[in-house]
Amino acid sequence: MSVIMVVFLVTVLPMRLDYFLAHSAGLTRKEAKRLISGGAVTVEGEAKPKANLQLRPDQAVALHGEPVQRPRQRYLMLHKPAGVVCSTDDPEHRTVLDLLPAELRPDLHPAGRLDRDTTGLVLLTSDGQWSHRLTSPNHQCGKRYRVTCTDPVSDEDLQALADGILLRGEDSPTLPAQVEWVNAHTLRLTITEGRYHQVKRMLAACGNKVVGLHREQIGDIVLDADLAPGEYRVLTEDEIAGI
Ligand code: URA
Repeated sequence: MSVIMVVFLVTVLPMRLDYFLAHSAGLTRKEAKRLISGGAVTVEGEAKPKANLQLRPDQAVALHGEPVQRPRQRYLMLHKPAGVVCSTDDPEHRTVLDLLPAELRPDLHPAGRLDRDTTGLVLLTSDGQWSHRLTSPNHQCGKRYRVTCTDPVSDEDLQALADGILLRGEDSPTLPAQVEWVNAHTLRLTITEGRYHQVKRMLAACGNKVVGLHREQIGDIVLDADLAPGEYRVLTEDEIAGI
């Protein structure tokens, strides 16, 4: 997608009123809807607008009589290829930001990290509160991985991964995870924490070794099958609001 397209989406397209309010005022969509239905919001001075009103860029919104500015945050998904690091700056390797046009990069950061050899879904944003919701242990946002191992995974190991497993050098086991086989050597594993090299260490604790790791999903956001490695797209309103 071109830079012009991204800027267009963020600043020019009509936007649902509840989405606009949630992202401008740092509210959940539910809180925004409650304020709208409670009469706290006006559009062009008109009281009681509908939450699904498609707001044009030129329409003025007020919350409790105070003007609300249009959100200017950016939210993207990227299909990370292997060999690229999840950081904003690296002296040696290409970073996820290097895969984006220069005009999009200012203030953008990856929400959570993948190892250099891990592929798949990376979310990038300029919105610190939003990325905090994705990465904070308190929010327990699920991250789904496809995990390929050198050895077949036994029933016992599958159960141990699901129940929680003590990682080397740590004193509390991992939180319960969702896990299922794709085939004897490959699992689909959803974890809600983000410990250092967590998936690789979970399999290492079972005496196995991860040889392929690909992130498919974060919360409700699924890696778009149309994105080839290295490609990105802007998140939809629903994807942003779902976090
Ligand atoms: N767990 C890992 O071990 N590596 C990643 O990149 C992500 C989760």
